[in-house]
Amino acid sequence: MKKRWWHDAVVYQIYCRSFCDSNGDGIGDLPGVLQKLPILRELGVNCIWFTPIYVSPQVDNGYDIADYRDIDPAYGTLEDFRQVLETAHSMGIRIIMDMVFNHSSDQCVWFREARKSRDNPYRNYYIWHNGKPDGSEPNNWGNYFYEGKGSAWEWDETTKQYYLHYYSKHMPDLNWEYEPLRQEVYDVMKFWVEKGVDGFRLDVFTSFKKPEGFPDYPGELGVNGYAQGREQRCNVPGIHELIHGMYENVFSKYDIMTVGEASRVSSRMAPDYVRAARQELDSIYHFEICNRNPAPPTVLQYKDAQIRWAKVVENGGWLAQHLSNHDFPRQVSRFGNDKEYRIPSAKLLATLTHTLPGTPYVYQGEEIGMTNVSFDRIEDYNDQYTVGQYHALMKAGVDEAAIWQKLRPVSRDNPRTPYQWSGGENAGFTTGTPWLKVNPRYPEINLEADRSHPQSIFAYYQKLIALRRDNPAIVDGTFHMFLPEHPQVVMYLRRTARQTLLIVANFSDNSAMVERPQEVTEHQWHRILTNRDDTTPSLMRESWLPWEAEIYELEG
Ligand code: NOJ
Repeated sequence: MKKRWWHDAVVYQIYCRSFCDSNGDGIGDLPGVLQKLPILRELGVNCIWFTPIYVSPQVDNGYDIADYRDIDPAYGTLEDFRQVLETAHSMGIRIIMDMVFNHSSDQCVWFREARKSRDNPYRNYYIWHNGKPDGSEPNNWGNYFYEGKGSAWEWDETTKQYYLHYYSKHMPDLNWEYEPLRQEVYDVMKFWVEKGVDGFRLDVFTSFKKPEGFPDYPGELGVNGYAQGREQRCNVPGIHELIHGMYENVFSKYDIMTVGEASRVSSRMAPDYVRAARQELDSIYHFEICNRNPAPPTVLQYKDAQIRWAKVVENGGWLAQHLSNHDFPRQVSRFGNDKEYRIPSAKLLATLTHTLPGTPYVYQGEEIGMTNVSFDRIEDYNDQYTVGQYHALMKAGVDEAAIWQKLRPVSRDNPRTPYQWSGGENAGFTTGTPWLKVNPRYPEINLEADRSHPQSIFAYYQKLIALRRDNPAIVDGTFHMFLPEHPQVVMYLRRTARQTLLIVANFSDNSAMVERPQEVTEHQWHRILTNRDDTTPSLMRESWLPWEAEIYELEG
């Protein structure tokens, strides 16, 4: 496989709204990012992914774009963006932008025009449909936010047709069947490449192609009587032609990276999107591990997923390695132990993410072990899924305590609370009132406290990132999982012709007994990293402490 810059990258995701507020309006902004770039350089990351910072009414915190070619005034200006980009580049940090082309905002000029009349030139940028003979919606699809009555179709009184919206009614879906829309999308991307950005993260790209004829979903309906049925609406035949079209018209023309948000993509389907020969995307991230299912995967499921997804890389594709982002719970709360083992478990998770095949993604705050929150009132939540589901479940008569139990641990507000910079007021995020409440654990968990702690998580991330830079086996090595049936321990090899590394992690709250595979016992190894300072630097032992994670290198 031809080596590209992003194979070696470590990507840091900035959720600008919650990162750093420079002007006291309670909302993070680009001048705030500029101030903090030196910290990211110290951390060692070399690429930033910005969640959408374009002009937006913020119904879905920027995933509803009103102007694809300008920055939202709450975040700054194009000039602020230019400064961030230039400064980041001067530090060796690239920037990739989030591109949202499944839908736009209803405030986008394309939609404001489209809804004026059936013959408006922008009409076909969107998906319009007549109702059923009785006037009801064209089919039983629900919107994913459980908004309003629940349908994915909204009636437009002026032009007397329904339009499709997979998410909010304020986020109408774009019509990829229409050539001028596709050209517009290519132009938007070229606009940003010409500004100097280094790549794109493609939002819900597997939904661009809609099911032919908009058939009813045949499976179970949701609590509101409409179908969620994402599997019907993702990866529809014809999707590959659309992605290849983007490749031909944009991606292939520049030295940029692309990473797709691969909703409903299995490890079996993935190569069709990411093998270089396909000429579609450079990489994707999947949701087999990081998701909002009621329970996190077991260690066995985790390993099984890693084994299957490593094959995608082995067969010439590439992956994002991640355990959280702005849509999912804080990783230390979901997969680790955010109480007595917060520090070692945060480090263990990072050890795995940074040494498995693919590019590691760090979601802001993860590098200091930020945790989930638990607010008491629905008014304190902002996330559309949480608010929409809360009301839908209440309306359906579900017990309120049960609703909270279901929604709190997976709410998208968990990862979105403001960054905890210090133990000062509002965790040092803003001098004003933060747009979303600060996590009450901030006096204990914040960057300053972490960096002055002997067990600093930030310092551990620095080591991991440096290790990746200096040890080619982490990026280029083959992958072999040992002990796939062990219920606690994750142990694998990364190997190139010149170097072999062994990663061992006790992914649990209890000590683990490990029978070492012969391949391990018959060689000499030395330890190059540990997340504890109280263990013997040797593989010649059978017991591993809770959340212990270590990396060894084969000698000779
Ligand atoms: C995925 C994004 O990550 C999420 O935040 C957003 O709500 C949906 N796509 C819709 O754009």
